[in-house]
Amino acid sequence: MSISLEEHISSRKTFAIISHPDAGKTTLTEKLLLFGGAIHLAGNVKARKTQRYATSDWMELERQRGISITSSAMQFNYQGFVINILDTPGHQDFSEDTYRTLTAADSAVMLIDAAKGVEVQTIKLFEVCKRRGIPIFTFVNKMDREGKHPIDLMDEVEKVLGIEAYAMNWPIGDGADFKGIYDRETGNVECFTDGLRKGNDDTRRTGHVDDPEIREWIGEDLLNRFQEEIELLDMAGNVFDKERVDRGEVTPVFFGSALNNFGVPNFLDSFLELAPAPAPRQSNMGTLEPASPQFVGFVFKIQANMNAMHRDRIAFIRICSGRYERGMNVIHNRTHRKMRLAQPQQLFAQERTILDEAYAGDIIGVHDSGVLRIGDVLAEKDGIEFEAMPFFSPENFARVSIANALKRKQFIKGIQELQEEGAIHVFRDLNIGVEAPVVGVVGQLQFEVLEYRLRDEYGVEVQINSLPYEIVQWIPKDEEKIRILKESSMSMVVLDQDENYAVLLLDKWKANWLSERYGIDFYPQPIRE
Ligand code: G4P
Repeated sequence: MSISLEEHISSRKTFAIISHPDAGKTTLTEKLLLFGGAIHLAGNVKARKTQRYATSDWMELERQRGISITSSAMQFNYQGFVINILDTPGHQDFSEDTYRTLTAADSAVMLIDAAKGVEVQTIKLFEVCKRRGIPIFTFVNKMDREGKHPIDLMDEVEKVLGIEAYAMNWPIGDGADFKGIYDRETGNVECFTDGLRKGNDDTRRTGHVDDPEIREWIGEDLLNRFQEEIELLDMAGNVFDKERVDRGEVTPVFFGSALNNFGVPNFLDSFLELAPAPAPRQSNMGTLEPASPQFVGFVFKIQANMNAMHRDRIAFIRICSGRYERGMNVIHNRTHRKMRLAQPQQLFAQERTILDEAYAGDIIGVHDSGVLRIGDVLAEKDGIEFEAMPFFSPENFARVSIANALKRKQFIKGIQELQEEGAIHVFRDLNIGVEAPVVGVVGQLQFEVLEYRLRDEYGVEVQINSLPYEIVQWIPKDEEKIRILKESSMSMVVLDQDENYAVLLLDKWKANWLSERYGIDFYPQPIRE
C-alpha cells in the first residue's frame, strides 16, 4: 500500500533539545536514539567527555572545553513516526547558531537538571523558542539524585520563564528515596527499583497507585506526602489545554532520569502524541502548506569540514513542503539558477547515508561548493522567500592576521568559508584590505574556534588582536559623514561582505553622541536599498 504525501508528513516530528550544559542533553538524545534501534550509534552522538569520539578534528577543541559547539541532525523511526532531532550548541557564545537551528524545528524539548533548576542558558534558549511560538515540552532530569522540590521547580519554570507549567507526571520522593513516577492520566506508577539504579533493566515494573503492593513499596510517609502534592496539583495547578500547548503558552512537564532511561519511554510516547507535525510556514507568496506538492526548503546551517574523512562543505536544509527525490532539480532563489540535488545526505551523527527521498519536516545535507548561504531557499519554482533569519549583532571585534605571508591564499579561503558558515562576521578595514580583516563575533569563544579551525583545517597560524569596539552599525554611503567617522578616535569605518559601509563604535553612548553631534543615521543591520 502506498503512503500519501500527507501521511508521510503527518508522521514527522522535528524538534530540538535545549538545555544548559551538563543537564543531560547528550544522555537523553542517546536514550531517544535507543528507541529507534540506533543502539550502535547512540554512544557516538557526542561521546562522553573522557572517551569522546570526535566527529572532526576541530571538535577536539569542543572536547577540551567540554562543551557542545556544533549542531547536527539525527533521524530515527519509532512506532510509525519519523523523528528528527536537531542538536543545538549549549554554550551561549553560539546562540546565533542555535537560533538558526531552532528556525528548522517544529517544537522544542527543554531539559532541566532537577538540582539546578532553570539555568542561565536555558533561559536564553527558551526565549528564542518563545519568539518563534513553538510548543515547548519540559523534561526534569536527574530525579535519581537529590534535587529541588518538584513544586519549587514548577514554580521556577513559571516565574523565571513566564510560561505556565502542567505536570504530566509526578515524582514520588527524590534522590536516595526516589520511588518512581506517577502518571496523572492513568494513575500508574512506574517504579524506580534498586535494580534499575544499578542498570538492571529486567527489574522494571509498573502498577496502579491503588495496588496494595505498590503502596507498600512506596511506604506510608512518602505516600502521604505524594498524595498531598497531587491534591494540591489537582486543585491549584494549571489545567491541561492542548491548544495552549500548541501555541507555546503551556509547557507539559515530565520528570525522569535520562541516565537510567527512567521516565524516558513515557515521555517519548506523550511527546509523540502531543508534539506538532510540520506546520505551514509564511512566505512572500502566502502560507506554504507542508503537504503542497512543490518541494521547498531553506538553508539553516552551513558547515565546512564536518568530518576529517570528508573534507567538504555541507548545507543543512529544512524541507518545508513537498517531497525531495534524489537527483531532483531545484531553483536557488538568490541566484535564480538551477541546481541539481544529486547526493543529498541524511546526517546521523558522523555517519552519512545517501538519501533517495525525504519529506517536509526532514533535514537533508547537500554538498555545497560555496554557492549557498544561510537563509537561501531551494524550491521547484523560483521566487519564494521566507522571513529573513534574525541578525545577531557581533559584540567582540578583533583584527586577524597571518603569521606567514606564504599562507595568504589558504587564509583568505578559510576566512571566506567560515564567514559563509555564519561562524564569524568579516569586515574589511578600508586601509588594509583582505590580508588583515576585522572579525566580529557574538561570544569570545568563537575567536578560539576561529583560531583553532584556521590552524586545523586550513593549516594557517593567525594572530588575533582584540579591538576596543563593542558595536557595529551600518551607515549610508555619504562621503562627508564617512570622512567624519574615519577621523574620529571613537570609530572605525569598515566594509561588510557585500561592500556596505559600516562603522565600529566603542560603546552605545559614543555612538549616540556621534549620531547627534554630526546628524549621522546609524542602522543596526545592513541597509537594503
Ligand atoms: P549535556 O550534553 O547536557 O552537557 O550533558 P550530558 O548528557 O553529557 O550529561 C552531563 C552529566 O550528567 C554526565 O555525567 C551524565 O552522566 C549525567 N547525567 C545525565 N542524566 C543523568 C541522570 O538522569 N541522573 C544522573 N545522576 N546523572 C545524569 P558526567 O559525570 O559529566 O559524565 P560521565 O562521566 O558520567 O559520562
